[in-house]
Amino acid sequence: MQSSWRSPSNIALIKYWGKYPGQLPANASLSYTLSASHTDTTVRNEGKTGTRDFRIRLFLDGQARPDFEPKIQQFLARLGPEADFLRGLDLRIDTHNSFPHSSGIASSASGLSALALCLLDLRQQASGKEEEDFFRTASHWARLGSGSASRSVYGPLVLWGRHSAFAESNDTYAIPYPDELHPSFNQVGDCILLVEQGQKSVSSSAGHRLMEGHAFAEARFQQAGQNLSALKEILRAGDWEAFGTMLESEALTLHAMMMSSKPYYLLMKPDTLRWIEALWAWRREKALPLYFTLDAGANIHLLYPPDIEQEVLNWVIAHKEGFGLGAYIRDQSGKGPIRLEI
Ligand code: DP6
Repeated sequence: MQSSWRSPSNIALIKYWGKYPGQLPANASLSYTLSASHTDTTVRNEGKTGTRDFRIRLFLDGQARPDFEPKIQQFLARLGPEADFLRGLDLRIDTHNSFPHSSGIASSASGLSALALCLLDLRQQASGKEEEDFFRTASHWARLGSGSASRSVYGPLVLWGRHSAFAESNDTYAIPYPDELHPSFNQVGDCILLVEQGQKSVSSSAGHRLMEGHAFAEARFQQAGQNLSALKEILRAGDWEAFGTMLESEALTLHAMMMSSKPYYLLMKPDTLRWIEALWAWRREKALPLYFTLDAGANIHLLYPPDIEQEVLNWVIAHKEGFGLGAYIRDQSGKGPIRLEI
């Protein structure tokens, strides 16, 4: 028994920040699934443990990484009886990220969605029965590993979390964006500026916890809902300027939540702000549809229509040295995971 999947990372337009027990989101979120930034994972059963327990070993680029295993154990514990098919198995997980592990790009969305897809595939093989809705269940499972991972099982635009403007939306799994999308939003470019490489000082999980009892939490959850309603109309109309304004406002609000948590913290770095200022100045000068968003870190995602990609890359390259930027990733929206032939 073995299974192998490639699953992409994603970048949120409307941010998931704050959750309830059971990995349920405090507000609905919307993201573009990426393409170049992905994780390849293979899960193999290497034998029997001879007990009712299962054994799991994880290898990143061929190196044993026992430090990742608690996150996987937590994921399997959340799966509960759904993981019973693993009992007695000795599993080896091999994983590889297309981006450097220390790049500051969140690997949890791509990593946990790839793992969920592999495990569901193994359950299908073990039972000999086809899953009724493979990707829906994979999204549900991925959510239990990491909330944002639930959105990585589809592409290009994905909605997770109950919202009254979308009848099919659900807190327990993500769905492909169900509403009308103007053709100018079918595909977007994403150039990721790796401003800071290395481990973040505060993890996303810890950040979500700090939204519990946060003075602005309720207002933020409501605002996220209103922003999603407004974005629905913007996506229909094809209004890049309104889209970009929403994008930047969501990014800065996310970081404002961090700065006003107790204890407060900062994930942006001086270079994050230098890039943002430079981007605003260039946009004023050129009137280009180029906007930024941030995830829970210092790196910047530049989003733009694919036809201005070369101009954007030239601008990034021209400023790279001056801003001491180590690297960037040229990415774009993508179609979602693929099964790999082993
Ligand atoms: C800022 O999905 O990493 O990227 O559910 O605890 O694993 P856990 O958190 P995670 O949080 C992602 C936060 C975000 C916004 C987003 O992707 O919507």
